[in-house]
This record gives sequence, C-alpha cells and structure tokens, in this order.
Amino acid sequence: MTVGVQHSAVADKAGSAPEKVDPAAPLLLFDSGVGGLSVLRKVRALLPQAPVIYAADNAGLPYGNKTEAQIAARVSGLLGRMTERFRPRLVCIACNTASTIALASVREVLEVPIVGTVPAIKPAAAMTRTGVIGLLGTEATIRQGYVDRLEAEFAADKRLLRHGAPELVAAAEAKLRGDPVDPAVYARAAQALRAMPGGEAIDVVVLACTHFPLIETELAAAFGPEVRFVDGSDGIARRIAFLTQGQPWRRDGDDIALFTRDDDDLPRLRPALHEHGLDRIVVL
Ligand code: DGL
Repeated sequence: MTVGVQHSAVADKAGSAPEKVDPAAPLLLFDSGVGGLSVLRKVRALLPQAPVIYAADNAGLPYGNKTEAQIAARVSGLLGRMTERFRPRLVCIACNTASTIALASVREVLEVPIVGTVPAIKPAAAMTRTGVIGLLGTEATIRQGYVDRLEAEFAADKRLLRHGAPELVAAAEAKLRGDPVDPAVYARAAQALRAMPGGEAIDVVVLACTHFPLIETELAAAFGPEVRFVDGSDGIARRIAFLTQGQPWRRDGDDIALFTRDDDDLPRLRPALHEHGLDRIVVL
C-alpha cells in the first residue's frame, strides 16, 4: 500500500500571482523516463482540468548511473529549453535523482515555480513499527547528502537501509512498453535489503525513485504482506494543487508527452501514455 506523505517529500518555491497566469499555460512534469507518470496520475486526480506536458529525457535515461555534474547540467539545460518553449505555469521535477542533485541549481536559473521530489523518509519514520526502514532508489540518489540530511532530521532514531536498484528502473520502463520482465529483478531488490544487517525487520520501504510506484504490485509480491510502501507522489500533487489554487485552466488540445530523442520504442509507450491522458508525442 502506498500512503500519502507530508511536506518532507516535497520541496518547492512559491508561485506567481494567480491573476497573471495564462489559462492555457501547462504544468510541466519532468523525469528521465516514464517514472514521473506515477506523479502525474496523482496530479490528474486533483487537477483533472490542468493542461499537462510530461517531459521524459529518454536520451539521458538512466540518470541513476550518471555523475552529479552530468545530471545537474542536463536537467538545468533541458528545463531551460523546455520552459522557454512551452511557458509552463509550474515545473515539477518528478524524479528523485534529478531533485536531490539539481533542485537548488535549477531554481537559481528558472523563474517559474518548481516543485521537487525527494525521498519520503519523514512519513516512513512515522509508519515504521520495527524502526527499520528500507529505501530503494537509484545509485545516484542513495549517495546524496540530501538523503543523509533527511535521515538525520526525520529518522535519526531509526535504521535506514539504502539500496540502489537500477534494474528496477529498466523493469518499470519495460513494463510500460508492454515488454515482459523477469520477476527475479524484484526478488533481488527485496533480498538485497533483507540481507543488510537488521534488514529482516524492515516493515516500510521508501520508493525513492518515481519509477518504482509503477511496479509496486510486483515489489509488494517480492517483499511480502508485512511490508508497506511509501512515496512522495500524494504530497507532490497536493503541493501543486496548493500552489496553483485559484488559477484559471483551459486545455486547447491534447496533452503532450515530450521526449528528448526520437527512438523506435516511443510508439510502444503510446498505450501507457494514453492511460495517463497523454495523446500527442513531441520530440524536443
Ligand atoms: N525516475 C528517476 C528517479 O526518481 C530516476 C530513474 C533513472 O533515470 O535512473 O530517481
């Protein structure tokens, strides 16, 4: 089960005056791939009238194995180009890797309000009964000082066990393309956390990568019924609704799925994109 989160999973900057907003100005959600769709579905539930551009940096996927400098440069550069071209009213970095590394620098260069996604450690600390929390993220996310600070602030009296699981990113991408996924990848992620000292007592797992709620059913089967999952998507959707409250909305056409590279896989994502209300594919 995924439960809602409070503010710790969200980082943002206050919005502009509601009366100045163009009703057709979209929300722009950004991720390296399809992971941010797990955030988009929560945003849709709260703001069904919002025009949306969902941007996936498929040319840069995966972010998890890149350096901090590579990720910061890519994310700032791409968001600069995208905001210039599409004039969004708000940008959501629907990616833990990009947010924990580049949120501050992106805010320095962009004028638009930005909502980031950071690991839901605070709600996990409130949920755990055993005091042992697992955290699944990308390799880049789990080594961030941002995560150390969340742990120190909210889970200092708990044990937080981190595991970087790049093959789960690939599994989520494959699932949404309709490709078969070997269930052993889910079992390996569960075993990796369970094998750490104290890991057998994990009762809450933070899904600290936006791809992972897309495979939560499979992860739940691998971890077993005593483990609950938490991610930041509910809190992010609430924050976006709060920052845009009172603003007018008008949708002039199909919502856009924006990619940074044209490749043969894009048509195979169409059904999953359609399910999230994205019926037009555009390549940047
Ligand atoms: N979806 C991304 C996240 O939340 C990262 C996936 C990747 O590109 O490695 O961290």
